[in-house]
Amino acid sequence: MRILAIESSCDETSAAVTEKGKVLSNIISSQHFHGKYGGVVPELASRAHLDVISDIVSDALDQSEYEIESLDAFAVTSEPGLIGSLIVGSSFAKGLSIKYDLPLIPVNHIEGHLYSGCLQDPKLDFPFITLVVSGGHTALFFVESYNDYEIMGLTKDDAAGEAFDKIAKLMGLTYPGGPLIDKLGKEGDPRKYDFPRSMIGSGDLNFSFSGLKTSVRYFIHNNFPDGIPEEELPHLCASIQEAIVDVLARKTINAAKRKNVKSIVIGGGVSANSRLRFKLTEEANKRRMKVIAPDMAYCMDNAAMIGFLAEKKIESGLKDKFRDLTYRVSSNALRAKR
Ligand code: KG4
Ligand code: ZN
Repeated sequence: MRILAIESSCDETSAAVTEKGKVLSNIISSQHFHGKYGGVVPELASRAHLDVISDIVSDALDQSEYEIESLDAFAVTSEPGLIGSLIVGSSFAKGLSIKYDLPLIPVNHIEGHLYSGCLQDPKLDFPFITLVVSGGHTALFFVESYNDYEIMGLTKDDAAGEAFDKIAKLMGLTYPGGPLIDKLGKEGDPRKYDFPRSMIGSGDLNFSFSGLKTSVRYFIHNNFPDGIPEEELPHLCASIQEAIVDVLARKTINAAKRKNVKSIVIGGGVSANSRLRFKLTEEANKRRMKVIAPDMAYCMDNAAMIGFLAEKKIESGLKDKFRDLTYRVSSNALRAKR
């Protein structure tokens, strides 16, 4: 089964060719220009997808060294995400499906991140816990098979990546702030400032990050009214990052303990965070659990995870179902009730 997959849910245009669980190519083009606006501008994002999607698909095919005629199916991210961005990828994929008379498998973006650990580690056995942490989502899943998973926890407000980005903006850093906080935090003392670990002892597996954002806002206002001194920025980044990572690590370990599983997968843009990877692995190893942290190209938004999961769906015997191109794209995000 050889699949060409397309991902365009936010500000990355990606195309990949996958075959039998292996990635033959995975081209990712990031829209860096949103930085100057302080966040992703949806209309500009869709236009930028439109500009590059054709070339990205050609590059993915070239790199795989296969002709489009040799494919068995197409796959595309159908939800959730920015609606205009989703429509660009989905319309392009529907066009290919009609032209080449092949099935088109719509794939949920969060499920793509959810199973990216299986793409990373083919020996990974079910069940496992996955923490999906991205710009739009923070969720804990108990995963029993490719068709069966349970949501154990969700964010009640901001997603972890959203918190990183909004807090970075408060500190005068450009979008996306997550990677910058990670980089600057490496030089700082995570214990220098004490920020709230919201809901860490709540007893459930839900998250909340908007209180941290407010706390940082007041902290900066009260302590650095004339701007954050350059030498304090790394300490501030390290301390804020520690507050986010502590909650993510604690709740993820608690989820694994509750279900008595030994494997933990992380996925989504924030799973690239070096402190999260280190701390979660350290805490897991103490309890004889292992952490599967995908390579950077599979943490960020990428089409390889979409193609990989599409193949698993086809293996479940649903191929004919994907001849129907009337599925809808949807922007719905996962949020816990407040
Ligand atoms: O999964 P993703 O590429 O897109 C969404 O589906 O949202 O995640 C993007 C998010 C952004 O909020 C970005 O700041 C965050 O992932 N991110 C990071 C790091 N790299 C990306 N956050 C913290 N540390 C990082 N190293
Ligand atoms: Zn994502």
